[in-house]
Amino acid sequence: MALNTNHQDFHPLLPRGTHDERARQEFVKSLHERASGLSRAEAGWIYKGRVVPAFQARYGRAPATREEARIALECDPFWQTVVGLRRTAQELLWSSVIDTVEREGPALIASAREHAGGPGSLRLSPALPIPDYLTGVDFHAMPGSYHGEFATDDVCAGALFERGTFLYTHGYIGPMSENLGRGMVDFVRRKHPDWQPRRILDMGCGIGSCTLPWVDAFPGAEIHGIDVAAPGLRYGHARANLLGKAVQFSQQNAEHTDFPAGHFDLVVSHILLHETSREAIANIFRESFRLLAPGGRMVHADLPDIRFLPDLFQQVSVDQDHYDNNEPLWAGYYDLDLKGLLQAAGFPSETIALESAGMVLSLPPSSASPDRSRTVTSRFGYGVISAQRPIQK
Ligand SMILES: C[S@@+](CC[C@H](N)C(=O)[O-])C[C@H]1O[C@@H](n2cnc3c(N)ncnc32)[C@H](O)[C@@H]1O
Repeated sequence: MALNTNHQDFHPLLPRGTHDERARQEFVKSLHERASGLSRAEAGWIYKGRVVPAFQARYGRAPATREEARIALECDPFWQTVVGLRRTAQELLWSSVIDTVEREGPALIASAREHAGGPGSLRLSPALPIPDYLTGVDFHAMPGSYHGEFATDDVCAGALFERGTFLYTHGYIGPMSENLGRGMVDFVRRKHPDWQPRRILDMGCGIGSCTLPWVDAFPGAEIHGIDVAAPGLRYGHARANLLGKAVQFSQQNAEHTDFPAGHFDLVVSHILLHETSREAIANIFRESFRLLAPGGRMVHADLPDIRFLPDLFQQVSVDQDHYDNNEPLWAGYYDLDLKGLLQAAGFPSETIALESAGMVLSLPPSSASPDRSRTVTSRFGYGVISAQRPIQK
């Protein structure tokens, strides 16, 4: 089935690029997709046909753990080449978008200022400390990380994130980078079809692209998005305003917010947790519990549990971002006792669920079906952590 992975919707804040810049970005997207494909498919044949037999010849058995399989693979020249290519493509990807963002930066900042008024709001706290886990490394090799600011009212990290992650995910995140948010809305609706949360918080909302599907799904609800990084919040605020969607953005650390206890019916996050730390995840669960009204629910979407993938090679292949893509918690994330952390935060055991949800993927419009919002859902996607605060106080 053909998916719509080539089309990104343009809006006045998205860096446009010259013809040559866009051609370079499209080339890097294809290179990145090819490198990722090699690391999943062809490297799997190499693993079975060459790496396992070599390991067997040496130790009299096949690799038994993810770690053994990874170390064995790392000795193979094919894997070394693929991993090198993946990293090179990742660096080229960001640099191809930075050229455009740097050139268009002043115009993007002006456009964000123009759209500062609208249905939503923005509250920044310049003195908020950026946690060490974000200053210590540029996640997924994005130069400057989320919080880097180089001009007054800077929005460039937001612009870089929106264009760069579209290329990096090979367009799978959707034309408005909204597919994960849509998937989580579907997840909640499937489980609780008649539920109408009145106040929703999206933690680590970035540019708010996954926050907006919650606005569409629950038009009567008050929607908040928080993030520690100001450039993405400025960008996301202007972006939501120009799309006519009301989101109340504020610069806050999800570990300890300034909202009153019991303020929200639903607390969500989209791929926030694995980019924090073990301590931060425990704090975020505790803060989610504090913020929920009695009976309120928490839904965090993050990495899928790779331990359920059928063979060690597939696990190593998904895990690889830890080793070549500046993702320091990725490999350790699977081994966290998430259920224990949730219980320690106060969630009753019977309300806790660790599940997986498919990825929502966009279908291209056609003359027969011009509807641009058509989607399909994949089998393998995200890990979803959900829990409920008890109804009685
Ligand atoms: C991978 S991005 C995801 C952004 C967004 N949820 C999305 O799906 O596009 C992770 C975001 O979490 C933010 N973040 C990391 N730690 C945070 C914390 N403790 N509190 C608030 N935001 C945080 C980062 O600044 C970044 O914008």
